[in-house]
Amino acid sequence: MADISRRKDDHLELAISGDVGFKRTTTLFEHVRFVHDALPELAVAELDTSLTLMGKKLRAPILIAAMTGGSERAERINKELAQIAEERGYAFGLGSQRAMHRHPGKSATYAVRDVAPTTLVLGNLGLVQAAQMSSDDVKRLVDGVGADALCLHLNPAQELIQDDGDRDFRGGLDTLSRLLQSGVRLVVKETGCGLSASVAARVRALGVEYVDVSGAGGTSWVAVETHRASEARRPLGQAFWEWGIPTAASVALCARHGFRGIFATGGMSTGLEIAKAIALGASAGGIARRALQALESGGPDGARAFFEGIEVELRAAMLLTGSRNLAALGSAPRLVTGELAQWLELGA
Ligand SMILES: Cc1cc2nc3c(=O)[nH]c(=O)nc-3n(C[C@H](O)[C@H](O)[C@H](O)COP(=O)(O)O)c2cc1C
Repeated sequence: MADISRRKDDHLELAISGDVGFKRTTTLFEHVRFVHDALPELAVAELDTSLTLMGKKLRAPILIAAMTGGSERAERINKELAQIAEERGYAFGLGSQRAMHRHPGKSATYAVRDVAPTTLVLGNLGLVQAAQMSSDDVKRLVDGVGADALCLHLNPAQELIQDDGDRDFRGGLDTLSRLLQSGVRLVVKETGCGLSASVAARVRALGVEYVDVSGAGGTSWVAVETHRASEARRPLGQAFWEWGIPTAASVALCARHGFRGIFATGGMSTGLEIAKAIALGASAGGIARRALQALESGGPDGARAFFEGIEVELRAAMLLTGSRNLAALGSAPRLVTGELAQWLELGA
């Protein structure tokens, strides 16, 4: 028990103050350029940033992405961020519920429904862990926190760097298929290495309707685990620090596969980037590490100010592209250049 809690607290500490970003790899949103509309005929006050996702109404296309659970510190962070999600009409993701499964006494550290009764709440579990659990056990985890859906995270790169990480990733599609049949609503999610078109096609063919691309360009989970790894394993982490599909590329590639919803997580740092993600086909932008940093440096009010800034930028992007609502933003004219255009041409 101490092990999982310690790992989660290590992750929080490294995410807050460690050197865990990609160094050269970017999200590639810099390769999306909107066409400026100098005659928008809109007022900022009338812009509509709302959307309906999984039957829940969001007031802005923002997800506070999966981070934590399982420790006292995690409990406070979950409550504070979930409360902000409720106030501002965002979606909220819990961190991996593996600790809750192993130690039901830890459930309270994931409990957010008291502060976020109407929020779109996403539970979370590794696909590899779900493979070893019965569908009923998985359902119990989702129901136990009152989540609207379960993010199943795929994180093979992160696991390979951990000294005691998983090494066997076979049977993932079978697990997904089994859980879909049992009626659990799923979001297939990466953790910072992105989803390719091929992965998108394979999970879509099973019937998965939602993905969170969690692409490269923000937090590198290979980097996080490299800091925690034994000396013998560290060179592997150094070699794969930059591994992954940039977030913008992953969103645009997934958008070709007819999902009902795509979360664009991975290095999102401005509302303009969220606007660009929506123009590439995302439903909402997800933010993990920067939200945590804002909370831990400025408290809940610091996090509120951070998100207010994101929304101001998003509305500016909508106004300056003449987009009254998110549907209009989704089809706003944009130019795709450079490496992002190459990824789209590759289409893989
Ligand atoms: C402290 C921390 C803990 C995380 N734990 C989880 C987790 O338990 N499950 C998961 O699916 N993703 C987890 N993530 C990954 C994020 O949800 C996200 O996919 C990734 O960090 C990229 O987003 P970012 O660049 O905004 O941080 C975690 C991220 C952070 C910063």
